[in-house]
This record gives sequence, structure tokens and C-alpha cells, in this order.
Amino acid sequence: MTPSIFAPVSTPAFAIREVAFVVLGLTAVIFLLVAGVAVYALIRFRRRRGDDGREPPQVYGSRQIEQAWIVVPLIIVVVLFLVTVRYIYAIEGRPQPADALEVAIVGHQWWWEIRYPKLGIVTANELHVPVSDRPTFITLQSADVIHSFWIPQLAGKMDVIPNKTNRVWIEPKRPGTYVGQCAEYCGMQHAGMLLTVTVHSTDSFAQWVAAQLMPARDDVQAREGRQPLSSFACANCHTVRGTTANGVFGPDLTHVMSRSTIGAGVIPNTPETLRAWVDDPSSLKPGALMPAMKLSRNDLDKVTSYLLTLR
Ligand code: CUA
Repeated sequence: MTPSIFAPVSTPAFAIREVAFVVLGLTAVIFLLVAGVAVYALIRFRRRRGDDGREPPQVYGSRQIEQAWIVVPLIIVVVLFLVTVRYIYAIEGRPQPADALEVAIVGHQWWWEIRYPKLGIVTANELHVPVSDRPTFITLQSADVIHSFWIPQLAGKMDVIPNKTNRVWIEPKRPGTYVGQCAEYCGMQHAGMLLTVTVHSTDSFAQWVAAQLMPARDDVQAREGRQPLSSFACANCHTVRGTTANGVFGPDLTHVMSRSTIGAGVIPNTPETLRAWVDDPSSLKPGALMPAMKLSRNDLDKVTSYLLTLR
């Protein structure tokens, strides 16, 4: 599904559609006037049979006309500027309500780290929020280069800049899943830096939170797979809460199987793709910064079956 700014479901996105209509309306009028005059001139003054080929009289230096085509566009530009500024201030100036859900998002090459500091949840690439009885206020930071956070149906674009914290808020009015995408070229897998926002009813959000707060499954049969996870370098980059794996360079894997995709939306999360990903990430996402760990087939099977228990 291609997201459109003309199908908003969240408060700042409604306002952005309004501005878009104002700008489109004004520019449509200008287009029709200019194109209309051009077409009229083309038809009215076309070469006719019996034309003597002489140049028509040339007119220079009408002060009124020149003043008009300076002043009128200036007024139009100023009006568009003021309208836009008004909307920007209205959106960015909204104070954070006391009960707002707080989310901290960090852009990485090429995935999104998602933290809920007050809830103690860490996940990746799939943001979950409640429907609008509680707006969600998001802080945006980058771990490396400039990215841009954009979910067209929920809010405007916001750059994600190293050493700077930007803010954006959303207030979705309808449950559903909305897709977004990094909107600032950030390297080889810029196009493979997708993001989904799942908007839950209040109850279903509470269920999601409860599930994420559970400690990692400790499946006795899969325990064998935990060993290679910490003895190979996996644990240096990934966290599985409650185990010795506590790295922070890569996505938190405590509930990795609750996510529907691997590699920030690049492939669906199935046992087969998960195994292929652990084996060699860049075969599925060329340029991915996770190295191929060259696990033996046996270790690969163990690690995969362990990861599959992390629901
Ligand atoms: Cu991140 Cu483009």
C-alpha cells in the first residue's frame, strides 16, 4: 500500500493536508491563468494563410504591467509563506500533555531503534501506539548520519540529525497499520529503512505492552542455541533481556519474533528467512552492517531455533 498525505488519520497530518490543498488551489489558479493566456495567444495569433511574414509591432516598457508582475507574485509568495509558518507553529508548538506516551527513536544505518523510556520497552522498526485518547510524543536522534522520519498518514517529515534531538508527535484517530520510510538519503540501504506504525485500540495496546514487558522466553529445548549466541559475537551487538547478551549496536532481540519483518521491513520474518539472515545478512539486504558470522550448519540451526522461541 502506498501511503498518501491525502489520506491522513492523525492530527498533524490533517493540518498538512489542509496546507497542501491551499497551496495546490492557489497554484492551480496560477497554472490555469498562465496556460490559458498561452493557449489563447497560440491560437489567436497563429500563422495564417496569406500572412505577409512581417514581424508584428513590438511593445516595450509598460510600467503598469511590470509593476503588476512584480507585486502580485510577491503577495502570493508572502501569503503562502505566512500560511505555512502558521501551520508549522501550531503543530510544533503543541505542549506535551501529561499523559502522552513517550517514545525515543534512534535512526541507524539502516534500521530504527524504538524505546519507550517510561515503560522499559525496547524494540525495532515497528512502532506500536494507542489510538488517540493519548497522543504519542516522539524524540528523534541519530546514531550515525542524517535520516528522516516520515509516516505520511500520521505526521510531517522530521529530520533525524546526529547530536541533535528533534521532536514529532502523532495522534492517530483510527486503529490500523501505517507505513513509513526513511526520507533522507543515508547510504546504500536508505530504501531498505522502512518503518511501520501499528495503532491499537486502548485494550490491545495494553496487551502489546504486557507482552513486550515479559522476560525473554527460556525454552529448555532451545537453550542449546543460547550458547552460540553469547559465545559468538552476537551478544556484542544484540540484547536479549535476562541473558548475557546486552549489546546495543543492533536491534533488541528479546521479542524478535513479535515483529513481522527482518532488516527494517526488507523481508518477512519467517523461520526460513530468519535462518538465511543469521547466516548471511547481506545476501538479503546488501550492505547491511551485520556481518555474516560463518556459523556451522549445526550452530546456525541451534541459534535459529533459539531465536524462534523469542516471541
Ligand atoms: Cu535512513 Cu535514509
